Order: sequence, then structure tokens, then C-alpha cells
Amino acid sequence: MHDRPPPLPASLRNHYQWLLARSDAPPSRLLDIGAGQGRLLSLAGEAVRERLVGIDPKRPGERADSRIARVIGDGQRLPFAGNSFDFVVETETLEWVRDPVSLLREAARVCSPDGLVVTDDTDWDTLVFAAGDAKLGRRILRAFCDSGPNGWIGRMAPSLMRRAGLRAIEVHVRVIAEQEFKPGALSFWQVQVIDEWLRAKALVTTQELNDWRADLHQAADCGDYLFSANRYVCVGRPA
Ligand SMILES: C[S@@+](CC[C@H](N)C(=O)[O-])C[C@H]1O[C@@H](n2cnc3c(N)ncnc32)[C@H](O)[C@@H]1O
Repeated sequence: MHDRPPPLPASLRNHYQWLLARSDAPPSRLLDIGAGQGRLLSLAGEAVRERLVGIDPKRPGERADSRIARVIGDGQRLPFAGNSFDFVVETETLEWVRDPVSLLREAARVCSPDGLVVTDDTDWDTLVFAAGDAKLGRRILRAFCDSGPNGWIGRMAPSLMRRAGLRAIEVHVRVIAEQEFKPGALSFWQVQVIDEWLRAKALVTTQELNDWRADLHQAADCGDYLFSANRYVCVGRPA
């Protein structure tokens, strides 16, 4: 049996639909670098006509549908010839790679001259959680942003694109907001990423992390919860 990727939270589904609509027509050949569980690919599969490929160093834990080719590999050294795709996208991946400019150069190389390279990254330093303990929340977010993958990746993305030689760069800042804190929500997942990272690094105590989660749950139970995050979307063209 082939498991499908987990369902997209509504907040992300709307965002991805907007992202995929950046090209004038539905792309024929799409590459997702750092495809992860393949959630963008599954959504794109409803529109992409010819070739749908995801690359990630990690083997996907599940099998997506048969329209999607999954390649195990490094986005900094793409195993594709030039002009192989007309829409090359990464979401939430730039901050995890050693050399994001190389990844973007590679994205430009495999993209057709009239195609688009699109980046989509959360600027972690813009996360907002409405919950009871502001001081604790601030401390945890700051610890993550200052030690984590790259808390400022969103705001850095346009200059990384420029350095990679992309041109005609459009920058969009989109705010994703949620009012629910429960499994399946984007913010629930973001909290998990932050929690795991800080636990592994022992940068805040286990008690503080538990208190933070309890605080978020309590705010959600009272209907007071709000999450927002700035996603920086850059759209560039290969030179
Ligand atoms: C936070 S996940 C994002 C997954 C997916 N794009 C999403 O938005 O749900 C980051 C992904 O980047 C992948 N990754 C890390 N280093 C990479 C590299 N050098 N090249 C391509 N992907 C990489 C990870 O394996 C992981 O799947």
C-alpha cells in the first residue's frame, strides 16, 4: 500500500496554490528541491502536465502518487541537464543547506531560460504566537533563531538569489496565520521543529519547553491562540 503525504493544512494549501500560480500557465516540468514529504508535489500534480520531480537527500518516508518521480540527491549538485524544468521551486529548504547560493545556482542552471526559480522560506524571526507567557515564548523563539538553521533566511533570500545570478527578482512577503494549535496545523509542526532542535541542543530546559507547549495548548483551549509567520517568496529568472 502506498501512503500519501499528510494532508496539507488549509493555510499551506492556499499558500502553495498562490505559489504555483506565479507562472503565466501551469508549468509543464516542475522540480521541487528539498521536497520532503512531497506535499507541494502532490498539490502541483493536479496541474503539472509533463514532468514532476522531487529531490531530497532523504528517502521519502512514504510513496506519493505515480505521477511524481522522487530522486535522492543534493540540491547543491543537481543530477539534471540544463533546461530540464520550467518551474524550479524550494520551500523551507534553503536554511538547511550548507551553501544556499550553490543550490540557487543549480536551480537556475536546470531551469529553462524562460522558466522561473521560486523560493519560499519562513523567516523564523518573524514567528508570532499569542499565548499567556510572553517572556517564555520570546526566550524560546530567540534561542531557536540564534542557534537554529538560519532564523533570518526569509529576509536573506532575495540577496542569495541575486548572488546566484538570478535576475528580475520579485519579492513577496506573505503572512500565514492560524488560529488553531492542533496536529496537522502548520504552527503545530513549526513548534515541533523548534522543540526538537532546542531539546537536542539543550539550549533551554525541558521544563521550559513543556511549559511553552502547555501555554500554547491553553491559549488554544480558551480560543485565544494566534500564530503568524512571514513567508518570503522570491521569483527569479535564470540569466
Ligand atoms: C523543512 S524540510 C521542508 C520540506 C518541504 N519542502 C516542505 O516545505 O514541507 C527541509 C528539507 O530539505 C531537505 N534538504 C536538506 N539538505 C538538502 C540539500 N542539500 N539538498 C536538497 N534538500 C535538502 C531535507 O531533507 C528536508 O526534507
